[in-house]
Amino acid sequence: MASKVPHLMTLGDLSAPEILRVLNHAYGLKRRTQPWLLPSVPSQAGKKSMRLPSQSLFPKTIALLFSKRSTRTRVAAETSAELLGGRALFLGSEDIQLGVNESPRDTARVIGGMCQGVFARVGDHSEIEELAKYSPVPVLNALSSLWHPTQILADLLTLHEHSDQFGTAKDPRKSPARLPDLKPLTVAYVGDSANVLHDMLVTYPRLGHQLRVASPKQYRAPTEVWDRVKELECDKGIWWGEDPKEAVRGADVVVTDTWISMGQEAEKEERLRAFEGYQVTEALCANANPSWKFLHCLPRKPHEVDDDVFYGSRSLVFPEADNRKWTIMALFE
Ligand code: CP
Ligand code: NVA
Repeated sequence: MASKVPHLMTLGDLSAPEILRVLNHAYGLKRRTQPWLLPSVPSQAGKKSMRLPSQSLFPKTIALLFSKRSTRTRVAAETSAELLGGRALFLGSEDIQLGVNESPRDTARVIGGMCQGVFARVGDHSEIEELAKYSPVPVLNALSSLWHPTQILADLLTLHEHSDQFGTAKDPRKSPARLPDLKPLTVAYVGDSANVLHDMLVTYPRLGHQLRVASPKQYRAPTEVWDRVKELECDKGIWWGEDPKEAVRGADVVVTDTWISMGQEAEKEERLRAFEGYQVTEALCANANPSWKFLHCLPRKPHEVDDDVFYGSRSLVFPEADNRKWTIMALFE
C-alpha cells in the first residue's frame, strides 16, 4: 500500500510556494542564529555570539543513512540537528546491516521505530524509493543517482541573499526579516547531466528563472527526469544544447558540477574526453551577463572550472556551501 508519510525525493515533490516557504524559513533561521553571516548585514566584531533557534527537534533523532562520502551534507545535517536540540545519528554503510545482512524494507521499519526522520544518501535512486516505501517516518533525499534536492535549496538561498548583485530593485516596504526577492534570472549549467542539474530542471523554471544547459548528447538527462520536467511544465523554461558558449549567452549565473560523480570513477578517462571544452573560464563566459556569478555544489576539480573563476570575485561557492546548513535545518524543522 502506498505510504502517506511526507517524503522528499526531489524538489519536484514540492510546489513552488512550498519551496519559497522553506527558503524563507532557512533565511529566518540564519538571521536569528548567526545574522552576521548574511551578506546584507555588516560584520559586527564582538557581536558574534550565536543565538539558539527554537529547540523544535528536542528530543528527536534523525538517522543519517549515508552509503556515499559527504562533507557538506553530513556536517550541515549534524550541526543543524544539534542547534535545534535534536540528534543526527550517522549510520555509514560500514556501520549497519543494510545491504549486507538486511533488506531496505526491514532497515526502514527498524530505524523508523526509533528515529523520527531519515536523511539518506544512496547510490541508485531506487534504493531511496525502497526505503521511503517502507519507512514509517519521513525520508529526505541527501543525494541519489537522480536527484540532489537539498543542494538546490542552498543554491537558491544564496542567489536570493545576493539578489542586489543581479540588479533586483529593493522593495522598501519589505521587512528585512524576509527573504530578499530575486528577479527572474537566466541560469546556465555547463557540464554533466547529473543529480544537481536534474533538481535544477524541475525547480528553476517554476520559480520564473530560465535555464540554459550545455551537456554532451550522450549524457542527456534520463527519461525519468524528463517525465518529471514535463509533468511540472518546466520544459518551456529550458534551452538545451551541446555548445557551452551558447549556453552561457546572457547568463546571470553559471553553474557546473563534477564531470565524474561518485560511483562513476571507472568512466573517468572517457568522461574527461567527452567534456573537453566545457571548463568554466572567463573566456568561455565572454557572452554572459558581464556581472555573472558562479555556483558549484563542491567538491570541485579544476578541470570543470579554473582557479580564476572558482576563487575569483564572481564565485559564490563558499556562501553556497554555508547555506547547505540553513536550508537543511529548515527542512528538518
Ligand atoms: N555538495 C555536496 O553534497 O557535498 P558533499 O558531498 O560533501 O555532501
Ligand atoms: N554529482 C555529484 C554531486 C556531489 C555533491 C555526485 O553525485 O557525486
